[in-house]
Amino acid sequence: MESSIHPLPAEYRAISGKTAIQRIRKIKQRLGDRLVILGHHYQRDSIVEISDFVGDSFDLSRRAANLEKAEFIVFCGVRFMAESAAVLAKPHQKVIHPDPDAGCPLADFAPAGMVKNAWKELETVLNIQKVMPVVYVNSSAALKAFVGDHGGTTCTSSNARKAFEWALRQREKVFFFPDRNLGKNTANFLRIPDEQVADWDPYIPFGGLAKEEILKARVLLWKGYCHVHTWFRKYHVEQARENYPEAAIIVHPECDPAVVRAADGNGSTKFIVAYVRQAPAGSTIVIGTEINLVNRLADQNPDKKIVPLSKSPCPNMGKVSPNDVLFVLENLGEVNVVCLPKPVITSAGKALQRMLDL
Ligand code: 13P
Ligand code: SF4
Repeated sequence: MESSIHPLPAEYRAISGKTAIQRIRKIKQRLGDRLVILGHHYQRDSIVEISDFVGDSFDLSRRAANLEKAEFIVFCGVRFMAESAAVLAKPHQKVIHPDPDAGCPLADFAPAGMVKNAWKELETVLNIQKVMPVVYVNSSAALKAFVGDHGGTTCTSSNARKAFEWALRQREKVFFFPDRNLGKNTANFLRIPDEQVADWDPYIPFGGLAKEEILKARVLLWKGYCHVHTWFRKYHVEQARENYPEAAIIVHPECDPAVVRAADGNGSTKFIVAYVRQAPAGSTIVIGTEINLVNRLADQNPDKKIVPLSKSPCPNMGKVSPNDVLFVLENLGEVNVVCLPKPVITSAGKALQRMLDL
C-alpha cells in the first residue's frame, strides 16, 4: 500500500484517551456527514464508542461502497480493510487508516508475487482456464487485483460458501488464498471429499503436491493461517463442554476444522454478535474468537453468561487508539491516507464487486 504514512507524533501520544475522545466528538459534530468512522468488531471499546458503524468485514466493505456523502472515511481496522474501502470509495472520497502499522499477518502469508509464481507453476500442469482464483478479503490489494484480472472474486467469512459455489459452477477447480482453515471449513460444509481438497505449501515447488494430486483436487488451499484463531484447539472445546455442559459453543471459521467440527456453530463476527443477541436470557455461550469482541459481548449482555473459549487477542486490531484517530482527524486528508495505484484499484475493484454482486 502506498500511503502518506505518518507515525503518531509525541504530542498526540501524551494526550489521555478521555481527552482524545472528547476532541474527536467535537470534530465529528463539526464535520457532520462529511466524515464517517468505520470500526471492525475486534477494535477496542474506545474505538467502537466513536465509530459511526461497527461491523464484520463484509458489512464494512458494503458500507464503504455505499457511502455517498462522506468525503473522509476513517477506517479503524487492519490494513486490508482500509485498502478495500479505498478500492471501493468514490473519486471524491479519501480513506484514512489511523495506524498504518496495523497489518494482518494472515494477509501477509500470500504476497501477490508468490501467488503469481504458484499460478505459473500450475499452468505447466493443467489448463489454467479451469481454475478459479478466490481470495479472502484478508489479503493485499495487489493480490485482489491479480484475482480480479483472472476472473475471480474476493470473499469474507460470511460469504465464502457462496463464493466457492459460484466458482465451482464456472470452473472445475478453486484456488483459495490465503486462509487454509476457512477454505477447508468451507469445503467441508459443501461436502467436498477430503481427497479432492489439497493444501498448497507456498514454500515448496508446486505447493509440495505431486502432479496427480493437483489434477485430482477440486479445491487448492494456500497454507496460510490466522494466529489469533489457530490458538483455539480441540481440547479447549472439550474443556468448555466439561465446565459448561449447558453452553452453546460458537467459533469463527478461521479456526482449525477440528475446532469447528467440535463446536455447535461457526460464522463471521456478525454471525457471532447476532447469535449472542438472539439467545434467550440465562443462556451460556462459549465463544472462540478475538477477545475484545468476546469481552464486549459479555459486557453488553449481562443477562447471559458469555465465556471466551480461551483468551486470544489480535495485537494488530489493538493498535488503533483514539490518539491515532485524533491525529488523523486534526490533520484531515493530510496524513495516513490510503493511496493505491490506479491499475490496482481497477483490478481489485473487479474482484470486490463480484463479491458484492454474489
Ligand atoms: P469477519 O469478517 O468475520 O469480521 O472477520 C475478520 C477477521 O479478520 C477475522 O479474523
Ligand atoms: Fe488478521 Fe487474524 Fe487479526 Fe483477523 S484476527 S485481523 S485474520 S490476524
